[in-house]
Amino acid sequence: MKLHGTMTVNSRGHLEIGGCDTVSLAGEFGTPLIVLDEALIRETCRQYIEAFVKPYPGNQVVYASKAFSSPAFCRIMAEEGVGLDVVSGGELYFAIMSHFPAKNIFFHGNNKSPAELEMALSHQVGYIVVDNADELKMLNSLAASLGVKPAVLLRITPGVEAHTHEYIQTGQIDSKFGFTLPNGQALAAVKSLADYPCLDFKGVHCHIGSQVFEMDSYAHTARIMFEFLVQIRQETGIVCPILNLGGGFGIYYTAEDRPATIEDYAAAVMDTVKECAGKYNYPLPRVIIEPGRSIIGNAGTTLYTVGTIKTIPGFRKYVAVDGGMADNIRPSLYQAKYEAAIANKMNLPAEVTVSVTGKCCESGDMLIWDIELPQAERGDILAVPSTGAYSYAMASNYNNLARPAVVLVREGKADLIIERESYEDLIRKHKIPARLQGRNL
Ligand code: LLP
Repeated sequence: MKLHGTMTVNSRGHLEIGGCDTVSLAGEFGTPLIVLDEALIRETCRQYIEAFVKPYPGNQVVYASKAFSSPAFCRIMAEEGVGLDVVSGGELYFAIMSHFPAKNIFFHGNNKSPAELEMALSHQVGYIVVDNADELKMLNSLAASLGVKPAVLLRITPGVEAHTHEYIQTGQIDSKFGFTLPNGQALAAVKSLADYPCLDFKGVHCHIGSQVFEMDSYAHTARIMFEFLVQIRQETGIVCPILNLGGGFGIYYTAEDRPATIEDYAAAVMDTVKECAGKYNYPLPRVIIEPGRSIIGNAGTTLYTVGTIKTIPGFRKYVAVDGGMADNIRPSLYQAKYEAAIANKMNLPAEVTVSVTGKCCESGDMLIWDIELPQAERGDILAVPSTGAYSYAMASNYNNLARPAVVLVREGKADLIIERESYEDLIRKHKIPARLQGRNL
């Protein structure tokens, strides 16, 4: 297993993160437990700022909070000078409740409700990324009635097919997101802005997909989007100050993944943008990027307790843990792969091939197929790294499993930032109608 960030193996042969012994964390907070390495999160933000913003001060790094959303996390992003991408009233609510600077919030979504748009307008979020013609109309009339003029970006579908799982591709023409560029809908949308005097058009946005590794896809997309800016200028005379290229940079989950560095990514994008600005004699736009997974992914490790171990001779050895698809749906949904280690046996040789399964009542509840681990026993602590992004964020209560706790570790100290759900939490919203109560069955 690759050791990320502050991970080390201590003198007891235990996995340590942020100076905390993970076996002790499991004892103190219970399992499943998501451990977030604060130093790695901050370090990654700084690398983004260093590569993207320092050389181009108008640029902005905006964290996609769908990857993991929590008020404590919003505070860290604000401290690091990173903006926030929100896609729902709920994500916006978290940002507001953590006093996140509203001007650095970008509000996305393909089906924003009038109530959500009103919430965004009344809190004066920095930008609304308008997805479709319906929304343009609705936003303009809401803005008129509130007497405001929000800054808007138009979400464009550039027609780029990124190499990633089809569920997380978004740049292709046949997508639910955005105004399609190749068929002229995007340009028509820009022209339609003349009818919407309450919207302050600032530029365009796109996002080609997630867990994308090819730098070429980004450079190619930056060029297509820049050429669209040039076309807008030609057709309408409008010069856009903002070019938002979305997120999606792939991270290491297993040795199959070879992510580029943040510097490589910045160079691929900014070299293309600068080249286009020169070629078309266009003022260098402010480039916005929206990394989610690459800020939080490698910084999160899920700790589980090993329970049942079942061997089917000639077939497979199953090691079951006390979580599974309820806290990490990614293996079942996207065939995502992960590494793992036994946190209390870090110095023992990985000599047994096993498959790690969860405790949900479903055969598809597999976390990892065919992984080599030291001999596992009931009570061992299994650590699955790179589970910071889209794990807790996509967690469910399937089988009425309670969602895990999340701790933030740093310099030997662990702070609980999300409490483990209790059975009371699970039943809190449920009601029994009077006609079903009070009868002895
Ligand atoms: N910006 C926009 C407009 C997005 O739609 C997304 C992700 C991002 C930024 C951030 O992308 P990232 O840097 O995190 O890749 N649940 C899937 C990923 C879905 C991503 C959706 N949009 C997964 O677990 O792989």
